[in-house]
Amino acid sequence: MPEEDKLSIETIRRNLPTGFVGQRVIYYETIDSTNRVAKELARGGAPEGTLVIAEAQTGGRGRLKRQWLSPPGSSLLVSLLFRPKLAPLQAARVTMLCSLAIADAIEQTTPLQARLKWPNDILVQGKKAGGILTELGVHKDRLDFVVVGIGLNVNIAFQDESPVFALDAAPDTSQASLSALADRSTSLLAATGQKVPRLPLLQRFLAQAEVRYLALQAGWRPNDEWSERLATLGQEVAITTPDEVIAGLAEGVDADGALLVRQAGGKLVRIIAGDVTLRTTA
Ligand code: BTN
Repeated sequence: MPEEDKLSIETIRRNLPTGFVGQRVIYYETIDSTNRVAKELARGGAPEGTLVIAEAQTGGRGRLKRQWLSPPGSSLLVSLLFRPKLAPLQAARVTMLCSLAIADAIEQTTPLQARLKWPNDILVQGKKAGGILTELGVHKDRLDFVVVGIGLNVNIAFQDESPVFALDAAPDTSQASLSALADRSTSLLAATGQKVPRLPLLQRFLAQAEVRYLALQAGWRPNDEWSERLATLGQEVAITTPDEVIAGLAEGVDADGALLVRQAGGKLVRIIAGDVTLRTTA
């Protein structure tokens, strides 16, 4: 691993241009899940801005109870702790600002353009390069903490016939399905054809996350900027929710990140969680 790509508490904090985001770093070579650790630290009173980072996870978790698999040392596997002045239903604003910060960091440290797919995917060249799992701590109807966990595929060579991909597979996924998922996934290495140093990417993300988080605390809402980055809008979509599949035109998102879908009959439906399939491509 080149020296500039070495991740350690010292290298992450060296010249990091933030006041609090990433200034306290909990680093693991291997851990089950950085989100699990971050939530435990949050419950124990850890300050906001605390960063939990690992080179490898043995129980990495994705949305909808999926697993998140990444070859050791290949990715950014991070969880950030925030304690925003928001109601629990507004917590997606923190996810939105972090996805914008990741997109900024990708664009500022590589030649790539980054887009987002509702609700929490980071897209590069139309494929999934990363995902976000946000988990909340709520106490007496108040938001106590938000843990934003990000998995970003950096230096994974997808053309290798490696049995381990970085993707969001359901626990019982077959090898054939894993290959199909790999077709929809990418990494910054696969997209650029070059190894991408993780340290500048991480530091840029932390800096952007802090700027945007301070703006949020001062009243800024990320949804307009987030909408502009969303590949989902203006597309015919089918959203699989725990209860049903909803089809229609993805018209917009509201302040709290819910997707607004116009159904064929004209009814506008507000969707807060689900998996999107694009039915046409722009
Ligand atoms: C998804 O697309 O389903 C979200 C994936 C989120 C994965 C990250 S990796 C770091 C953090 N720790 C976890 O266990 N999950 C998140």
